Formats: sequence, structure tokens, C-alpha cells
Amino acid sequence: MTTNDAFFKEITEGNTFKGEYITMGSAILNEQPIKNAYVNIPLKTLNRHGLIAGATGTGKTKTLQVMAENLSEKGIPVLLMDIKGDLSGLAKPGENHVKIDERHEKIGLPFTAKNFPVDLLTLSEQDGVRLRATVSEFGPILLSRILDLTDTQSGIVSVIFKYCDDNKLPLLDLKDFKKILQYATQEGKAEFQEAYGRISTASTGAILRKVVELEQQGADLFFGETSFDVQDLTRIDHEGRGYINILRLTDIQDRPKLFSTFMLSLLAEIYTTFPEQGDSGRPELVIFIDEAHLIFNEASKALLNQIESIVKLIRSKGVGLYFVTQNPTDVPEAVLGQLGLKIQHALRAFTAKDRKAIKLTAQNYPDSEYYDTATVLTNLGTGEALVSALDEKGRPTPLAATMMRAPMSRMDVLTTGELSELISKSKLVKKYNETIDRESAYELLNEKIKLAEAEAEKEAERQKESKKKAPTRRKSTAMNPIVKVLTSATFIRSVFGILTKVMKK
Ligand SMILES: Nc1ncnc2c1ncn2[C@@H]1O[C@H](COP(=O)(O)OP(=O)(O)O)[C@@H](O)[C@H]1O
Ligand SMILES: [Mg+2]
Repeated sequence: MTTNDAFFKEITEGNTFKGEYITMGSAILNEQPIKNAYVNIPLKTLNRHGLIAGATGTGKTKTLQVMAENLSEKGIPVLLMDIKGDLSGLAKPGENHVKIDERHEKIGLPFTAKNFPVDLLTLSEQDGVRLRATVSEFGPILLSRILDLTDTQSGIVSVIFKYCDDNKLPLLDLKDFKKILQYATQEGKAEFQEAYGRISTASTGAILRKVVELEQQGADLFFGETSFDVQDLTRIDHEGRGYINILRLTDIQDRPKLFSTFMLSLLAEIYTTFPEQGDSGRPELVIFIDEAHLIFNEASKALLNQIESIVKLIRSKGVGLYFVTQNPTDVPEAVLGQLGLKIQHALRAFTAKDRKAIKLTAQNYPDSEYYDTATVLTNLGTGEALVSALDEKGRPTPLAATMMRAPMSRMDVLTTGELSELISKSKLVKKYNETIDRESAYELLNEKIKLAEAEAEKEAERQKESKKKAPTRRKSTAMNPIVKVLTSATFIRSVFGILTKVMKK
């Protein structure tokens, strides 16, 4: 048997699975693609997460596009974090092109241009389905992690949530949360102190500053109603294809905190609402995070821990997470260690540091008698990558330098006209895009304070009356100073007694 034959046999046997799979391309030996030596990924192990890495322009995003298309065809819904805005083309068929025909001829796969069912989502004011969550849904623990609070501050946040629960005050947006924070050390101070112990102004002040910081990254757009039902990410179209949900994040690059807040809340929500996966042998949802370094870069230690544990847990719900990034080291060790699929595009060896990184990367791949992994890593062409998946028993498939198939949908983005047409047809846009500001903690607390004010004013009137009766030399001003302070909604200590009485009713 020639080396080529032996290689072909190893690749073919290693990529034969009992259940369903997707095909990424054909294996390359000595820089020559071997026709029909298909490199496949079984659906069964797609919930084991993965990494797509490589230098800029080597084909990472196209690999993501290819995976998303093939999953959709298998009826598996996909969520894409589109940081650079280069994935909308999935909604339109690609174009036949000499280069693509050549590529597919070498791989041994026919090329068919196709479009896919796409919905565009947004976290901000961009057009698309608005993704939102309420502060209540977020919960005290997650909120504290996101805000990077100390233990004492987290304790206060828990008390605040408890108070809102006890008093049926819905916490919908950050406006509500800020209001109750202020209330706890101002108008409601005595009430809080009695029920939960003293809350220091210094602590609430510190929490408030963190909230404002989050708001400055645009989080006020994300918190609120209508909150997004993550089940809507798992829609299947009338042809049985999974929807490809593209979250447009081009305006989020400079707001990493908002991005990690969103990612964590989304994963937590999916984890709590998706049922434990049975033995379906296929994922329920596959999530791709392009430019993944953005969620890890500015994340605090507490947040990282949270991400690490949720990444581990979410597997059992049949959700696969794929991180797309230039350098594997952009992803924390603890997450890297959990990844089943590795797709490594070319790395460039410009500096000594680059060469060291290449050596390290090569060590993370299974040994192969056909490749010197470090050399292959620098020689891969555009749209070629080293692939190592997990077979259905969870063992690594043979390492394969792979010529990737081309995306069936458009490699370029949609025009503005095409985008608005797509968005105008979306059922989800109709469901989620109305801004509602129903009565929540903010309004209810204001009402409570107003009531207390009115009561205090009456009390002051009564006092004034009784003073009038008694002869006095003191010249009264137009408005009693107490009333003045009260109506400006800032309360002096002596009024608290009245206030607490009113509140208790
Ligand atoms: N699988 C592929 N089939 C055809 N062309 C590809 C493929 N992968 C990459 N290319 C070409 O390389 C270019 C850069 O790929 P891209 O995925 O945007 O790189 P990256 O995300 O790594 O920066 C694409 O615009 C396309 O022309
Ligand atoms: Mg890219």
C-alpha cells in the first residue's frame, strides 16, 4: 500500500460514523488535497464544544459559515455572534465561481448555491429582533458577578431583590434597580433597617457607580421588556432546516462588558430553561462566538469562573459552544480543556514569539505519522485547516489537514435593501420590538414616596394650624421649611418617623 492509500484508508475509516454527521472538506497530504477523503464531524459530539483558530484572513469565519449551513440543513438551529458583521450573506445563495468550482472538484463534492433561513437579532438600536432580559430574571447572583461586586455588596443586592420580591415590586430595567438602591438608604432607610439590618450608603453608592458604568456601555438597552424567550432560538423552518440566528454585534466591540453580560445571561437562561438532553444523538442548538477574545478580555475573575462552569454544564442540555478567535490562548485554559472539536487555520511565524506559539499549538493536536503539525500549521492555505473532532465514542478522529468546502450561501454581506427586507419579514421582530415600560419598581416606589409626602404635608399643616392658634412672634415664610424639603423629595431625618408609619400600612 502506498502512503497515499494508507492515509486515505485511515482518514476514511476515522471519519465513518453510525449516526449523522456534517462534511467539512477533504484531507490534504503533502500539500495535495485527496479527492473524496472526507473529513466529517459527527452530530453526536457537537455538544462537546470547540475552537476555530487561525491568523486573520485564513478562513475562520468561512469555516463558521460552512458549519452553520450544514447544521441548518440537518435541522439544527444555530446562533451566531457576528462581531464584524460579515455573516448576513447566509440569507442569500452564493455565486458559482471558477475558484469555488476548482476547490470543490479537488474535494470531490458538488457545489450547490443555496440560501438559509435567517433571523437577525440585535442588542442595541441596530435593526433586528431586540434581545432583552429583565433585571429580575437576571437575578442577584448574576447581577453581582457582572458588576464585579464585593461579598458585602453582593449581600446588599440579594437583600434588595428579596425586598422587591416581598413587596411585589417588579425589577424590569436598570432604572428600577437604581431607584430601589437609592430608596434603601434614603426614603426607605428605616424600613430596610428594621427588616434586614443596616445598609450603608457607602455600599449602595459603590454599587450605583458600577451600575452607571454598565449603563454607559449601553446596558440600559439590554435590560427591560419584552424579555427574549430562548426557545425562539430553536426554530425550524417549513423545510425542516434549523434557523440561523445572527446576532449583529458590530457596534459592541468597544463595549466588552455589555457583551459578556449578555453572553452569560443567555447561557444561564438556556441552561435553566432547556430540558436535559435525552439520547437524541444530535445537538439542540449550536452557538458560534466569532472574535471570542472579546468576552474574555475584560472579564473579571468571578465572571470567568461563572463562564467556565456554565460552559461545562450546558453540554448536558445539548448545546454546543464554538469559540472563533485568532489565537487559542485568547480562550482561558479551563475552557480550552473542555473543547472537543479543534479547527486550526494557518498561523504566521513572523517573530520568535510566534514560533513558540506555533510549537505550543501543535502540541495540543493528536500525533500523526503523516504530518509534522508545526510545519503544516504555517503552510496551510486560505480555507484550509487542521481538523480534529471527537468520534461517537468521544475519541479524537485522525488529525487531518483539510481543504474546506466553500459556503453555499453568499460570502459577502447583504445590501442595506436586502437587510431591511429580511427584517421586515421577521416574525420575531413583530413579537419583540415593541418597547414596553409597564409599572415596575421605579413607578411604584415613586408612588409610595408621593403618598408619604402627602401625609407628611398634612401633618405639617396640622402643626401650622395649632401654631397659628398660639400667639407667636415668629414670621412664617410662604412655605413651611419642612414642607419645602418634603416636596423636593429629599427627606430630613425628623420626617422618617411619619414616613415609616405610612409605609407600613
Ligand atoms: N472555505 C472557503 N472557501 C472558499 N473561500 C474561502 C474559504 N475560506 C476562506 N476563503 C476566502 O478567504 C477570505 C477570508 O476568509 P475569512 O473567513 O473571512 O477569514 P478570517 O475570518 O480568518 O479572517 C474569504 O473572503 C474567502 O475569499
Ligand atoms: Mg473572521
